Amino acid sequence: MNGRNQSMVPEFVLLGFTTSWGVQILLFLVFAIFYVANMLGNLLIVLTIISDHHLHSPMYFLLANLSFIDTGVSSIATPKMIYDLFRKHRVISLNGCITQMFFIHTVGGTEMVLLIVMAYDRYIAICKPLHYLTIMSLKMCIFLLVLAWTIGLIHSVAQLAFVVNLPFCGANKMDSFYCDFPRFIKLACTDTYTLEFLVTANSGFISMATFFILVVSYIFILVTVRKHSSGASSKALSTLSAHITVVVFFFGPCIIIYVWPFPTLPIDKFLAIFNVIITPFMNPVIYTLRNKEMKVAMRRLIIKTFKFQKFFH
Ligand SMILES: *[C@@H]1O[C@H](CO)[C@@H](O)[C@H](O)[C@H]1NC(C)=O
Repeated sequence: MNGRNQSMVPEFVLLGFTTSWGVQILLFLVFAIFYVANMLGNLLIVLTIISDHHLHSPMYFLLANLSFIDTGVSSIATPKMIYDLFRKHRVISLNGCITQMFFIHTVGGTEMVLLIVMAYDRYIAICKPLHYLTIMSLKMCIFLLVLAWTIGLIHSVAQLAFVVNLPFCGANKMDSFYCDFPRFIKLACTDTYTLEFLVTANSGFISMATFFILVVSYIFILVTVRKHSSGASSKALSTLSAHITVVVFFFGPCIIIYVWPFPTLPIDKFLAIFNVIITPFMNPVIYTLRNKEMKVAMRRLIIKTFKFQKFFH
């Protein structure tokens, strides 16, 4: 309990960019436009998939779940980041900080596992097409989703457990837009060496391991596709390249932030923004602009909504 009594820092200061008004306005525009686009794009994907029975297949259900998670990823930190741009004192309480880290890591960990589940789904569809619907049954999909959320939660709690009781005594400036473990731990007034190691071992490990599993499975699938070259393979290739693009955008920043988090690099601040603003936006862009079935379904949904409104007027 000694640690708790010593903690005299009720809140942290998020430095963000404390530069000119011009930069703040530019940042506001970038944050706001991407946030709105993220929410609209991802919600449109979820609505389209749920409402269109042509898209009631495991692949699209998983995609809808990914989009749903992405609305979460961008909603945890971005609204406060936008609000903070116009505040002189960009403070966040200790509990606010812990809450942000909890949700970011729960949702982020879940998304990583979900990307593996989506790769597995493509593996079954392409390499064992005759057994696809029996293997990827609704029960299996739900099981894999519950598994993803469970792993995400464990990943997050396992890190938080070590930092909730950290003592703070003075230093409270965080060179970031939102709270995350590397910079949070740095502010504690205790020997943080073990904690730094734990964060690297946990977040760094889950990022590297997931990335490695995904790369290996996509190489495996690509090799299989090339062997059975047929009419279906070009469609499979375009789906796969969409997945691979999402994976690279998602893991690139994560690996740099968590695998070598100490010392924290200045570029981490930009990568952290990238992670909560640009990455969630990749899904709608990649899956809607490149997928014909999605485009057709969205058009159907929009026409249906429009007719429905005319019916009432
Ligand atoms: C997630 O996937 C499940 C099962 O595949 C599906 O029933 C559910 O509608 C999906 N959730 C969302 C938000 O799309």
